[in-house]
Amino acid sequence: MIEVRGLTKRFGPRRAVDDLSFDLEAGRVTGFVGPNGAGKSTTMRMMVDLARPDRGEVRYDGRRYAELAQPARTVGAVLDARCMHPGRTARNHLRAIAALSAIPGSRVDEVLADVGLESVADERAGRFSLGMRQRLALATALLGDPRVLLLDEPSNGLDPDGIRWLRNRLRRFADNGGTVLVSSHLIAELARFADDLVVVGAGRLIAAATVESITSRTGMSLEDSLLEMTATSAEFASA
Ligand SMILES: Nc1ncnc2c1ncn2[C@@H]1O[C@H](COP(=O)(O)OP(=O)(O)OP(=O)(O)O)[C@@H](O)[C@H]1O
Ligand SMILES: [Mg+2]
Repeated sequence: MIEVRGLTKRFGPRRAVDDLSFDLEAGRVTGFVGPNGAGKSTTMRMMVDLARPDRGEVRYDGRRYAELAQPARTVGAVLDARCMHPGRTARNHLRAIAALSAIPGSRVDEVLADVGLESVADERAGRFSLGMRQRLALATALLGDPRVLLLDEPSNGLDPDGIRWLRNRLRRFADNGGTVLVSSHLIAELARFADDLVVVGAGRLIAAATVESITSRTGMSLEDSLLEMTATSAEFASA
C-alpha cells in the first residue's frame, strides 16, 4: 500500500501540488489523470525524492522512499523517456544502472527480452525512436524487479502495437501483485486497463475512485466524465 498524504509543492507563488492525498493498492493499475499543468509529474517526482515537497509525505508500506533499504528493488520509475545517455547502447545503459543499484548483471538480458529490445541491445540509445526509448525506459524501471511502477506518460510515442503491449505488460505486473501508477492523457486507452483513477486539477484532488464507479455515476464515457470533472476544477482554480 502506498499512502500519499498532504503533498504540497509551490513554485514561486503557484501551487503546483496542493494538499494532495490518495492511496495506491497492490494488484491494481491506477491511472493518474488531469489537464496539462495539473501537477501529475511534480507529484510523481516527489514520490521518488526527485523533488522535495513543501509539506506532506509518501509512504511505501509505512516507509518513506529515503528509508527503503533498496529503493530500486521497491520502486521502478520512468519519469522521463529521455533519461538515458544517447551515446550508450541499450545494454550498456542498463548495465550501468544495474551496477549503480547493486542489481545483478543477469537482469539486463532479462529486461531487454521483457521489453522486446534484444535485437537492438547493442545499438546506441541516441538513435532509438521515441517508442524504443520508452521501452528502454520501462526496462530501466523493471531492472530491480520492483513491486511498484511509477510511469509518467509511458505511452507517449508508442504506436498502437506498442500501446497494446504496454497495456498488457502493466496489467500483468499488477496481476502479479505489483502496484502501478501511470499518468496519461490517453483516457480511452486507460479506461481499457486501469482499475482505479486519481483525478487532479490545478494541483488538487478531484476524485480517487474506481474507473467503474466514475463512469457508472455519470453515465458517460470516461473521457467525457473526466472532461466534466476537470472543467469544474478549472473554474474553482480561477475563482
Ligand atoms: N521546475 C519547475 N519550476 C517552476 N514551475 C514548475 C516546475 N515544474 C512544474 N512547474 C509548474 O507546476 C505545475 C504542475 O506541473 P506538472 O508538470 O506537474 O503538471 P502535469 O500534470 O504533469 O502536466 P502535463 O499533463 O502537461 O504533463 C505547472 O504549472 C508547471 O508550470
Ligand atoms: Mg507531466
